[in-house]
Amino acid sequence: MYSRRSFSALLPFSLLLLLLCLGGRCCPQASAGRLDLEDDLTDPELEEEEGLEYMDPTPPQAFPNAEETPSCSVKLLQHDFAHTVGAPPVAVNYTLPENCKWNRAVLEFAAACEGEQNDRIAAVWLDGVEILRTSTAKPTTQVGVFWRVRKDVTHFAAMLVPVASSARTLTVMLENSLDDYFKGIYHVNVTIDFYGRGLSEPRTGKLGFLRLPSSRGEDEEEQQASGFVPVPPRYGGEGGEAAQPAALGLPTEETKLRSLLERPADMIIPVANKKKGADSGFWFRIDRETEIRGSRLRIPRNAYKAVLEVCVSYHGDDEFWYANPPDSYNIQNNIPSRRGNWAFRELVATVDGLYAGSVLPFPVVFPGGINPFFWTPVVAIKAFDLPTYDLDLTPFLGQLLNGRPHTIGLKVSHAISFWLVNANLHLWLDPHLPAVPAMMVKHHAAPTFLSRNANNKFLEGHFQLEAARQARFEGWARSSLGNFTTLIDSHFKYKSSVEYKMQGTLKEVFSQSKYTADVRITEQPNRFLARVINQARYPVKMLTSTASYAGDRMLSQANVSHMLYQFTDVTMNQMRSQNSITDMQVAGGWLQVNGAALSGSATTLQTYQRRDNGRCHTRKVGTQDRGITVDQTNTDCNTMIPDLSTVPE
Ligand SMILES: *[C@@H]1O[C@H](CO)[C@@H](O)[C@H](O)[C@H]1NC(C)=O
Ligand SMILES: *[C@@H]1O[C@H](CO)[C@@H](O)[C@H](O)[C@H]1NC(C)=O
Ligand SMILES: *[C@@H]1O[C@H](CO)[C@@H](O)[C@H](O)[C@H]1NC(C)=O
Ligand SMILES: *[C@@H]1O[C@H](CO)[C@@H](O)[C@H](O)[C@H]1NC(C)=O
Repeated sequence: MYSRRSFSALLPFSLLLLLLCLGGRCCPQASAGRLDLEDDLTDPELEEEEGLEYMDPTPPQAFPNAEETPSCSVKLLQHDFAHTVGAPPVAVNYTLPENCKWNRAVLEFAAACEGEQNDRIAAVWLDGVEILRTSTAKPTTQVGVFWRVRKDVTHFAAMLVPVASSARTLTVMLENSLDDYFKGIYHVNVTIDFYGRGLSEPRTGKLGFLRLPSSRGEDEEEQQASGFVPVPPRYGGEGGEAAQPAALGLPTEETKLRSLLERPADMIIPVANKKKGADSGFWFRIDRETEIRGSRLRIPRNAYKAVLEVCVSYHGDDEFWYANPPDSYNIQNNIPSRRGNWAFRELVATVDGLYAGSVLPFPVVFPGGINPFFWTPVVAIKAFDLPTYDLDLTPFLGQLLNGRPHTIGLKVSHAISFWLVNANLHLWLDPHLPAVPAMMVKHHAAPTFLSRNANNKFLEGHFQLEAARQARFEGWARSSLGNFTTLIDSHFKYKSSVEYKMQGTLKEVFSQSKYTADVRITEQPNRFLARVINQARYPVKMLTSTASYAGDRMLSQANVSHMLYQFTDVTMNQMRSQNSITDMQVAGGWLQVNGAALSGSATTLQTYQRRDNGRCHTRKVGTQDRGITVDQTNTDCNTMIPDLSTVPE
């Protein structure tokens, strides 16, 4: 049973850490890079047998209807993650059930935990290809918790079908630690549900809204007979002159667009820590900005499209990188915290050392972050399904298709300890050609512009920062679909302000990332085929105040608002499609410690809106002190979503 006395030694210390972190004063690294917290919201009604269900009210894209039953389902893993620190990840064989016909796949990660425990980072890989990165909830002694994460994994189709020679390996890493205080064991089930009857080829879901004229042609009947069968890869230098395209007739415009924009990749190669994968997970750990990690890969010579999907999370001293002051602030004020190095990080991908794109990560707050009551039972945006970032490497095919090994590198500018980074290289292969001629014709990338301004006096200070970068890549690749030139213009702008007021007891943080990638595809000599514009904006505002009175009494108040905004605009010959997601949370509340007793209160409102060519899906969920106060869904496009980015800093 729960007994507060037994924690009296631990509690004030952990809480001190939490409150000092909120006030920005100091935050020695907690072992798990997280804050631990005992809560005092002793509402007896919450202490039900079945526990508290955590949720993420964001409907995954292309989610199957509730009524739809899977055509087949594979339970891959049932495992208890107890004291797993330093232990290898759990690995099991994966095979697709025989005769399983499908065109959509959904991964389910279901978990339950009773007893006090920290939030932990976890990931699921298939042969080293990351298919989910998730955080656990933050359970406490009083209430057991459970939750389900469902993610559309159709774009990993090439990994879900069996390989001829052997089973694939599914690996799950969840480093958990048990002691006299943290007793929570994570019980986890991993399942993949397959939907549809294989009547059509899988669609990536990313462009599922394209609604190209439906192809009720031979293609579909062929697929019906076989389920989804990806193109077998062809490696360079291994001979085998394949069939010539002549016999197959000319590809239609629809075939070209589907092949370029909608089909899942035919092959996915991990850019991951394969050496250590079986011991400590496939991610690379990055502790400083000088570290460049990556993989040397041989890429099939018949690739006509390449996309690098980057997976990333940040922990330890960089868990709140967007709120970090410069080191000088900590040093001058004798603050032992190592959370510093300013509030800007840029993840950079390279191809043979050549700059290939940047990722500005969305600031994910883990369930134990800032004030855990904010994220109970609705977790922070994307905490259960961490975002990944696509970098289109098609213009680099000219460098990559010579059959020799090439290095894909990953680094994090300005990083401090620690980041977990890996990537999946998605490749689309020509079924009719052994090799695709390709050439990069333009590579222009200016270095990152960065301007910083520090204005501080003792514990008060204002640190402002601006960063920007743009790049242009262009290349052609001539597959049996045609000779396509891909021109990519990308740029980002980043702005940040970290301010300490009132002797450092009040901290105000504002951060804004804006990213655009504009991809134009033309067919030789100069015929427009498609243009895809992707935009993202991630504003964050955080206000924390900490007051300490006599002895070990402290009060902390925090207000956090953050938003994920993504917009995609696709133009083709006769069609235009626009799609956006706005996901916002506004949270406020307080925490108090008085001796060993802790109390708190929090309110969070989440507004999620998905717009799909004029159709809308809006959901509002409000929580207060661990209970749901509002949960409304409508299809009204006029629901107002406040625009955080216009809030003055
Ligand atoms: C995992 O599956 C088992 C067997 O179906 C079930 O009893 C258990 O409740 C599941 N656990 C979770 C966390 O869903
Ligand atoms: C996994 O597959 C390998 C062969 O690919 C086999 O040797 C091994 O026994 C399998 N493991 C399990 C648990 O089925
Ligand atoms: C493909 O198109 C580009 C641009 O029009 C041209 O320069 C190149 O020679 C073409 N490649 C082939 C193999 O035809
Ligand atoms: C912070 O949130 C509280 C609600 O918890 C609200 O009353 C207060 O006005 C907010 N303060 C600011 C500065 O937004």
